[in-house]
Amino acid sequence: MERISSWLNRNSLYIALLAAWIAMCGSLYFSEVRGYAPCVLCWYQRILMYPLAGVIAIGLLRRDGNLPYYVLPFSLLGLGVSTYHYLLEKTDLFAGSSFCAQGASCTTQWINWFGFVTIPFLALTAFLLITLMSLIALLNGEPVAEDEEGDALRMPWLQVSGVVIGVLAVFTALFISGAQDPQVAAAEQNPFATLSVTPGAQVRVDGTVSDPATLVHGEQLYLQSCAACHGADGLGVANLGNQLRGSDFFASNTDEQLLAVIRQGRELNDPANTTGLVMPPSGGRPDLSDEDILAITQYLRTP
Ligand code: HEC
Repeated sequence: MERISSWLNRNSLYIALLAAWIAMCGSLYFSEVRGYAPCVLCWYQRILMYPLAGVIAIGLLRRDGNLPYYVLPFSLLGLGVSTYHYLLEKTDLFAGSSFCAQGASCTTQWINWFGFVTIPFLALTAFLLITLMSLIALLNGEPVAEDEEGDALRMPWLQVSGVVIGVLAVFTALFISGAQDPQVAAAEQNPFATLSVTPGAQVRVDGTVSDPATLVHGEQLYLQSCAACHGADGLGVANLGNQLRGSDFFASNTDEQLLAVIRQGRELNDPANTTGLVMPPSGGRPDLSDEDILAITQYLRTP
């Protein structure tokens, strides 16, 4: 136990450095390789996280005992923003908040690992780790610039560059493997790839649905969860989502087929991807039931 705590005391800011670099490279991986569109709140978190990657590295190199004081304002603010963002995604506490009404929606859950790990959750974890590690460093008065005899200590180049280069190497590999995915390239080159997906699908063009309550429910959910990318009218938004209402894809698929497509979403490397943009699983709303999504598809079949 004592050994762990003394190891932690000596290395707390290296752990913070590692967390900041993983968070920065990971967020760039999600947006640049996987194609997930960052929302306004994501950008605020980036503004607070990215400088830390540099500040912690330089502070460690210079053995600046004040480093925690430079880090904590950023990490605490970041912790606040990502907590807010996570609650926005997972609860109704801030329903009706006007954040991200346009562009990429802040409530879109691009990933939902184990049912709770979303991108803001990952950011929250990183900010929390950086905050805790800075507090440990603060309490210890580490790092020090001089040894007991008063001689200046050398800059810890090896440790700092080891962390940075290690993270960069892992993410460079991820970037290269993502960028060279042949299916991504194929999907980008073949705009008609989707046409072959649903041979013999049941055609329902008029979409007359008798139950008005379902349509109202569908409209509400559509406006909350899908309109940010597919447009309030369902006719699509440039660089966010394509046309749904009145599209050939809707005409040539049954509601059940649409349900399956919406549940799965479309990654960039999905052969059916036509836009080079990502459709998040369940439209980023894993909490929607099958009935909810079917209400949305029925609503979208109305003229
Ligand atoms: C963050 C943006 C975003 C959100 C939110 C979103 N979508 Fe999408 N959706 C997309 C993109 C981008 C595509 C196109 C993917 C492609 O190239 O095939 C798409 C494609 C689709 C398709 C396939 C259409 C076709 O012509 O291939 C359906 C159906 C669909 N979305 C339904 C929904 C529904 C229903 C919701 C809400 C529950 C929703 N989407 C929320 C971005 C989004």
